[in-house]
Amino acid sequence: MIDNKKVLFSGMQATGNLTLGNYLGALKNWVKLSDEYECFYSVVDMHSITVRQDPADFRQKAKNLLALYIAAGLDPQKNCIYYQSHVSGHAELAWILNCFTYMGELNRMTQFKDKSAKHADNINAGLFTYPVLMAADILLYQTDVVPVGIDQLQHLELTRDIAQRFNSIYGDVFTIPEPFIGKTGAKIMSLQDPLKKMSKSDENPNASIYLTDDRDTIIRKFKRAVTDSEAVIKHREEQPGVSNLIEIYSACTGKTFEEVEKEFDGKGYGDFKLAVGETVADILSPLQARHSDILKDKAYLDGIVKENAEKAQYFSNKTLRKVQKKVGFNEKIR
Ligand code: TRP
Repeated sequence: MIDNKKVLFSGMQATGNLTLGNYLGALKNWVKLSDEYECFYSVVDMHSITVRQDPADFRQKAKNLLALYIAAGLDPQKNCIYYQSHVSGHAELAWILNCFTYMGELNRMTQFKDKSAKHADNINAGLFTYPVLMAADILLYQTDVVPVGIDQLQHLELTRDIAQRFNSIYGDVFTIPEPFIGKTGAKIMSLQDPLKKMSKSDENPNASIYLTDDRDTIIRKFKRAVTDSEAVIKHREEQPGVSNLIEIYSACTGKTFEEVEKEFDGKGYGDFKLAVGETVADILSPLQARHSDILKDKAYLDGIVKENAEKAQYFSNKTLRKVQKKVGFNEKIR
């Protein structure tokens, strides 16, 4: 608890082009949660170097992501928006937690298996202990809730296990975090293969709407979206493509699936796709404008980065000191 509010932590990586899925599935929900919780939203740049990055490109992408958090509506005075690498406690706690995590547990992580298959020439130790750094991110702030995608649930489960293990040895040190899975927009699917999640690493550019796509591109991609030959606009399992479009439209407008079905009752797919495309474009254009304004204002952005890193450092230090003491490190003379 901070100021009587529960603590929320989440993070995103700055690799690849961000998609509409990242926005509707994560960022938009983060904004909704920011009144109720004391929020820490990190650009988890330390996680990203488990895969090789081009330094200049990576630096810019991380900055773009941090600015996007703000452009999406997260007030950086109320929410702690910072680069993970600016707060030393993440690495320090991760080391300690490494000593409370078993090889067998890490070996079971499906993301590790997937990523090792994908980067067979660089299966480094960081890739293996990636979930421990994630546990450190979360536990450092005594986090109560963690909004995550379904693909990260296994990591969160491990975080809870590590925290409980530590607590059972040393007493109540860590808050045990709960996952928070958003109801709408939880899973935006590919426009080309609606059985696959919309992904920033998809090879087919028509499969994803990138947050940087212009209006014409967005509308064109929606026009090409894969549907079916049922010729009815219904949210149901047999129609994954149409259902995905309904979900996107619903997440953008706040209308329920039933309301969307009613609105387009008797209309053709062409009209429906155009309406979804226009709605998405209407949301993304102002977001893009805000984003570029923020990036242009270097003094403003630098100020936010500095203040929030200090704030994160302050809160994370409290937990870190406690943990260091519990494991038996001698106290630093200050
Ligand atoms: N591993 C997460 C992902 O790839 C990102 C992440 C890192 C994260 N640390 C976190 C998410 C802590 C939530 C909480 O999506």
